[in-house]
Amino acid sequence: MPPRLNPNVAALQAPPIPAAQAWARAYDGKRGPLIDLSQAAPGGAPHPALLERLAQAAGSAEAARYGPILGDEALRAALAADVSELYGGRVGPSEVAITAGCNAAFVAAMLLAAAPGEAVMLPTPWYFNHEMALTMLGVAARPLPCRAEDGFVPRAEDAEALLDETVRAIVLVTPNNPTGATYPPETIAAFADLARRRGLWLVLDETYRDFLPDGAGAPHGLFAGDAWRDNVVQLYSFSKSYAVPGHRLGALVGGEAVIAEVAKLLDTIQICPARAGQAAVAWAIEGLRDWRTAARDTLADRARAFADALAPLPGWEISSIGPYFAYVRHPFAGAPAVEAAQRIAAERGVLMLPGSFFGPGQETHLRVAFANAGVERLAELGDRLTV
Ligand SMILES: Cc1ncc(COP(=O)(O)O)c(C=O)c1O
Repeated sequence: MPPRLNPNVAALQAPPIPAAQAWARAYDGKRGPLIDLSQAAPGGAPHPALLERLAQAAGSAEAARYGPILGDEALRAALAADVSELYGGRVGPSEVAITAGCNAAFVAAMLLAAAPGEAVMLPTPWYFNHEMALTMLGVAARPLPCRAEDGFVPRAEDAEALLDETVRAIVLVTPNNPTGATYPPETIAAFADLARRRGLWLVLDETYRDFLPDGAGAPHGLFAGDAWRDNVVQLYSFSKSYAVPGHRLGALVGGEAVIAEVAKLLDTIQICPARAGQAAVAWAIEGLRDWRTAARDTLADRARAFADALAPLPGWEISSIGPYFAYVRHPFAGAPAVEAAQRIAAERGVLMLPGSFFGPGQETHLRVAFANAGVERLAELGDRLTV
């Protein structure tokens, strides 16, 4: 008799990106090469100096050894300094844990916050791996609907109305995947206040923070005070900022007492984060500051190219656009989002993800990861997507 699968695993959706990529195989290529806007992957290669450092580190005997559970000191210190500067705070190296990517940081944060049978609030549309992580942990995802007319920015008062004693944490992703919405500092402050009053964790996934526009200032003011250390956890990814998603490096920032608990989780999950990438990225935080700025400007150009291509097209509407993503209303009124995405992939050779991959109530929308394509390819969308 075959063993029973853990029901929390059986309940998971299949990995969404490969499922969508399979739809593109039906495309006959007649309109030109596929334009793949499905995955939030950095379009270009890492800086050559970063690749050189990665090669050096990977070839060293030191990188072959286990390292500290919470990451190498040099990277913890470099990220703490970077966070302190950007947010105008005093975040120390002992308040940083390096993880095997931001997804692993999220799993650690959820293990920290909620036990099986409890719940965590996720604004919808949500990042699908967040919901999947909760499901596999036996923790319920409590949807907090965001409205297109609010620019998909959640409201703290809506969240408060949906809380009950099972909810242990609220997760905010800003700038957001999938909508691109950047939450104003006041919104984040209102959620921090709510979380503090109600004894909840506030988890901020700021994977895309390095792509905020020039002069945007600190993404929020929480690190400028001291209260955050009790219940705020910030998650970060090196994948997009340094174009190294394959090296699996992320981070979790929290008060020292929180990090001590996280050390137990990370010891079990990863023992230590991969070593070679840590040495290289520790240098890159300062060493590639200008390169990061240029990458951000390139994405801003792509956002403009995408918006210019889509704006004149009847039936399409950009509901929200940000540093990496646009969230668009598709023109196939009444059709489920999967059907719309499949048709666009098969007939037009453009791959976007259906809103329904990102939670309930998203059938009218598609997510576009325009960061993956150059401006010339994005300009082609005008022809490809005319219905
Ligand atoms: C909001 C968000 N968090 C986390 C991740 C995963 O990042 P990493 O590659 O560091 O695990 C992604 C990747 O798309 C993301 O969009």
